[in-house]
Amino acid sequence: MADNKIESVLKEHRVFEPPRQFVEDAAIKPADVEALYSAAEADHEGFWADQARKHLDWHQDFSTTLDDTNAPFFKWFTDGKINVSYNCLDRHLSAKADKTAIIFEADDGNVEHISYADLHARVCRFANALKAQGLAKGDRAVIYLPNVPEATVAMLACARIGAIHSVVFGGFSAPSLRDRIDDAEAKMLITADGNYRGGKLIPLKEVADKALSEGCESIESVVVLKRSGADVEMRDGRDIWWHDVVDGQPADCEPEWVDAEHPLFILYTSGSTGKPKGIQHASAGYLLGAVTTCRWVFDLGDDDVFWCTADVGWITGHTYITYGPTACGATQVMFEGVPTYPEPDRFWKMVDTHQVTIFYTAPTAIRALMKHGDEYPQRHALDSLRVLGTVGEPINPEAWMWYRQVIGKERCPIVDTWWQTETGAHMITPIASYTPTTPGSVTHALPGIEADILDESGERVTDAGAGGVLVIKKPWPYMLRTIWGDPDRYKETYFGMYDAHTYVAGDSAQRDEKGYFRILGRIDDVVNVSGHRLGTMEVESALVAHEAVAEAAVVSRPHDVKGEAIVAFIILKDGEGDEQLASDLRNWVSEQLGAIAKPEEIRFADGLPKTRSGKIMRRLLRTVARGDEVTQDVSTLENPQILDQLQAKGT
Ligand code: WT7
Repeated sequence: MADNKIESVLKEHRVFEPPRQFVEDAAIKPADVEALYSAAEADHEGFWADQARKHLDWHQDFSTTLDDTNAPFFKWFTDGKINVSYNCLDRHLSAKADKTAIIFEADDGNVEHISYADLHARVCRFANALKAQGLAKGDRAVIYLPNVPEATVAMLACARIGAIHSVVFGGFSAPSLRDRIDDAEAKMLITADGNYRGGKLIPLKEVADKALSEGCESIESVVVLKRSGADVEMRDGRDIWWHDVVDGQPADCEPEWVDAEHPLFILYTSGSTGKPKGIQHASAGYLLGAVTTCRWVFDLGDDDVFWCTADVGWITGHTYITYGPTACGATQVMFEGVPTYPEPDRFWKMVDTHQVTIFYTAPTAIRALMKHGDEYPQRHALDSLRVLGTVGEPINPEAWMWYRQVIGKERCPIVDTWWQTETGAHMITPIASYTPTTPGSVTHALPGIEADILDESGERVTDAGAGGVLVIKKPWPYMLRTIWGDPDRYKETYFGMYDAHTYVAGDSAQRDEKGYFRILGRIDDVVNVSGHRLGTMEVESALVAHEAVAEAAVVSRPHDVKGEAIVAFIILKDGEGDEQLASDLRNWVSEQLGAIAKPEEIRFADGLPKTRSGKIMRRLLRTVARGDEVTQDVSTLENPQILDQLQAKGT
């Protein structure tokens, strides 16, 4: 995060109470929240056991709440049996069969309403089709689909039969898709011929074919959804159309009752190394977090129209599209397109059309739309809105205030929700009907979540304004269970710094005078571009795989819309870099990893600043990338003359 942003956040003292009318209308009252906090404080495990019995339907009740005998490999609700899709669908059928589960708006504006009965039938048909294709409990299916209802159907169908899904965001490249398929040893790939986003064709099947052209030996079948109508190659004996596999399948499918701990999904995310981590979530605990946070944080109820603008390819889409709103039996909007197409009022127009009451998006979208000017939101009434949420990266107070005033008309509480792929659902966030909010602050931890800030030696950091390592001191039901196929990395990454009960999030944080948390940024080599997490090492590995590149170092610098932007320092094998090569390298990274990883700027140099032991001085590169004055100690620099060159080469 930019130093100037940290400063502006630190100077932020405005406090906004939850509006009185909002609290009066809310399902969850301040007294209820107080009761949750006291219950959680009195008995952490008992509290979660009560919540699990209250919010989930169990096929068989559990007898042990938390098994921590093999910490940090925690187990929750062991010997309980459950099915996640049953909880998201079947249990609503008696009272809400005709209620709209999904209002889907396609890129071209076409709208489709899907009821709970209809969603249930579609999931059952597809689940039967998966079984007919040979997918069984515990098998992995990779889902590479656009943000359309079939993605939700595919995920819930996997859950129904106990297969483990791994959704890969449609913007990822062929090599990234291949790596994930190989790491998960997936038996099936579920994709589409393509789709339109912002009026542009995304050729998913073509990318998938490229991915499958090498490795991917575990793949036995590829199910292809017809979406764009683009001409695609269907390989005999491997590829089969979605509409053909579901044809003739019964609209009923007995759920597979799995253990509470049965893996529900794997979702890959970036870490400090070049290799993405397969974050593995468990069935019951994960779903519990999806439900409780929807209820508490957003006050999600039966009359709401919930809209999370994320893509199902990210954890936000998993928890707040596929699982949370459906498990709550709510109505939600799902959107295939982008906020600025055909015009920058698309979101606001959709809020009015579908009468959205709870709206959840990312700071990068808010900043981008804010730049287009107030006239776009002002074209629309926006009077159905009652809660606004943000997620993915720190939100600057300016964007927060714009969100509050121009979108929420000072009537809607803003919940700035801190969490991660690993945490499964919200962790540190305001509760809409309860928490006084401050721009740029994620406020406090939820009931049952023990967040704290520690210094390097493990002492608590309590002084206002002092920074430290953000940790969670007790296991919680919706935490990740391991890294797929790499338990050592799980232990080392998340529990290596202190002890086997102290989860290290990878962020630094501080408290303000009220004791509220403020997230400062990552403590590892992870950057956050438009709310998407990227490892600098991943981008570096992609760059050095280019034939012209000898060495690369990647850092980020603040960006007023993306939050952070990537700057790559490149040492060529020979010759000088020019505009053309810079553009080639940017495209190369995009092909290797996906468009989100495309560097904002490429700088060529003859060498990188290194210590005498050969370590790249990244902090120094960050300073240079930001165009700031170098005040760091450069006495350990092995090649001090390189500094002048790096600065001079700035464009
Ligand atoms: C990282 C997790 C959580 C779903 C989307 C991102 C940053 C996330 C906030 C927030 C400040 C935030 C953190 C975190 N982050 N939410 N409200 N304020 N920072 O999930 O890709 O796993 O990334 O995003 O740095 O560690 P993710």
